[in-house]
Amino acid sequence: MCGIVGYVGPQSALDVVVAGLKRLEYRGYDSAGVAVLADGGLAAAKKAGKLVNLEKELGDRPLPTGTTGIGHTRWATHGAPTDANAHPHLDNAGRVAVVHNGIIENFAVLRAELEERGHTLASETDTEVVAHLLAEEFSVTADLAEAMRLVCGRLEGAFTLVAVHADAPDVVVGARRNSPLVVGVGDGEAFLASDVAAFIAHTRSAIELGQDQVVELRRDRVTVTGFDGRPADVRTFHVDWDVSAAEKGGYDYFMLKEIAEQPKAVADTLLGRIDAAGSLCLDELRISAAELREVDKVVIVACGTAFHAGLIAKYAIEHWTRIPCEVELASEFRYRDPILDPRTLVVAISQSGETMDTLMALRHAREQGSKVLAICNTNGSTIPRESDAVLYTHAGPEVAVASTKAFLTQLVACYLVALYLGQVRGTKWGDEVGAVIRDLSKISHEVERVLRTMEPVRELARTLAGKNTVLFLGRHVGYPVALEGALKLKELAYMHAEGFAAGELKHGPIALIEEDLPVVVVVPSPRGRSVLHDKIVSNIQEIRARGARTIVIAEEGDEAVVPYADHLIRIPVTPTLLQPLVATVPLQVFACELATARGNEVDQPRNLAKSVTVE
Ligand code: F6R
Repeated sequence: MCGIVGYVGPQSALDVVVAGLKRLEYRGYDSAGVAVLADGGLAAAKKAGKLVNLEKELGDRPLPTGTTGIGHTRWATHGAPTDANAHPHLDNAGRVAVVHNGIIENFAVLRAELEERGHTLASETDTEVVAHLLAEEFSVTADLAEAMRLVCGRLEGAFTLVAVHADAPDVVVGARRNSPLVVGVGDGEAFLASDVAAFIAHTRSAIELGQDQVVELRRDRVTVTGFDGRPADVRTFHVDWDVSAAEKGGYDYFMLKEIAEQPKAVADTLLGRIDAAGSLCLDELRISAAELREVDKVVIVACGTAFHAGLIAKYAIEHWTRIPCEVELASEFRYRDPILDPRTLVVAISQSGETMDTLMALRHAREQGSKVLAICNTNGSTIPRESDAVLYTHAGPEVAVASTKAFLTQLVACYLVALYLGQVRGTKWGDEVGAVIRDLSKISHEVERVLRTMEPVRELARTLAGKNTVLFLGRHVGYPVALEGALKLKELAYMHAEGFAAGELKHGPIALIEEDLPVVVVVPSPRGRSVLHDKIVSNIQEIRARGARTIVIAEEGDEAVVPYADHLIRIPVTPTLLQPLVATVPLQVFACELATARGNEVDQPRNLAKSVTVE
């Protein structure tokens, strides 16, 4: 949450920073602001609302040109999204500017102390105290990095800070505790950002900052120390995607582009993980086969869409490995004193790798001696770094706030982990693993096929734009798919949407059914587990008899559903456990189109931000 950019180099800092903020706007869009060092002073501009408001302000009242600057796009925590609360925040002399992502928990105490010392604070934010504290420390040390280290020693909470000082030209200083911050190293220039997307147009060479580190950027030098001032070890990495991956590429929305990218994302996530003999080789896993053989319980922790991937993974893990698997919302996990020990494998699923709830859950698990395996899409992020092992999904950057391609690749990664566990523990024979892998390898083409048949789904969505409620039903792995369909609709179309296990209907929710209420039903394959199929067909009849308008997602060739479907959406024939990979796609398209029809902002739904870096 909140996007931060810093720049020092030969280019116009304002241009670099504003372009970077555009790529980070998915992290928060309540307000935006910039500050540049120019003409021996500091000039700043900030505006409530989206970045376009700031751009208009900069057009009306241009800032002087400078080559050192910082910027921020905000997801509000303390204080309403007003101009005054927008970042950067300045000290009283207007010499220091600070941007911040996170929450400074002891800001009220610090604010009272500053006021006692005669400072006047102009906003309701927790951030502003940092500008004043930095000004005080800099007046003694005349060294911005040292001033930052001293200030950080006084802060409690989670924070990433980036600052400039008019008396330290050509220097940008950043500090990181919990919230993300990455350095981009260019030729005679350097960048700081919450996400590499902000500087990928300039350099693909990056440095991952660790916990409790301060970085000083100069044109030709990047110096990283701990909060204690000691030089820090850092990991440099090469960003393996380019600027085109972070652009809309002709689509109206990032979400549409990311939905369309799913076949490739799925195929890329499988790439290199299957050896010539058709067995799985997850070499990068860093947890030995011997350790995996000792595992007696798997616990999956995740939030939102990633949690739904975890719910589906449970079916695969238990079925293929016979190891009990629990799935828990990361935000609930550590507060209920979960039973964990060294034989528990905790799987933390996160697209961003920065979700605070998930991070706290994995830290708790490691404290209890459990091994943690991260399934993550973001190289250089905190969750993989703090885990014992990581399996990267290769979805490429996901910019739209609503997760789509990351979800499908999380599913693929979960299937791979489940199969690998089965392989090393001997609960799955090589030929069985090979058969599932062959099915998985075909899936990207099936997703492609689904995408080619989505026009009727879009048409249907447009006719439902005036509705207030949509329900989603599923059984077995179709139940988490129903939950995911409902989540997408809530966050994008702002409609009341709920997902239910179809079998639960008669235990209460069926009372919600009324004339013409749209109900989406995800139907399991009629093959294999046909009992489930037959039961859901009965459920469809029950709701239709009560007036529901049934929107049925069923396999090609499933004729049993035809008489009861007001709208029929066909998906390819797929093994039951893998069906979510194709069944989710129409629900993503449905939600995206409904949101558009209702005039909503698809990529930036209200009140939300991607990367939830506060608990
Ligand atoms: C929904 C959505 C969120 C995220 C959740 C976890 O479309 O995007 O529910 O799935 O905030 O985020 P990550 O995966 O980054 O931990």
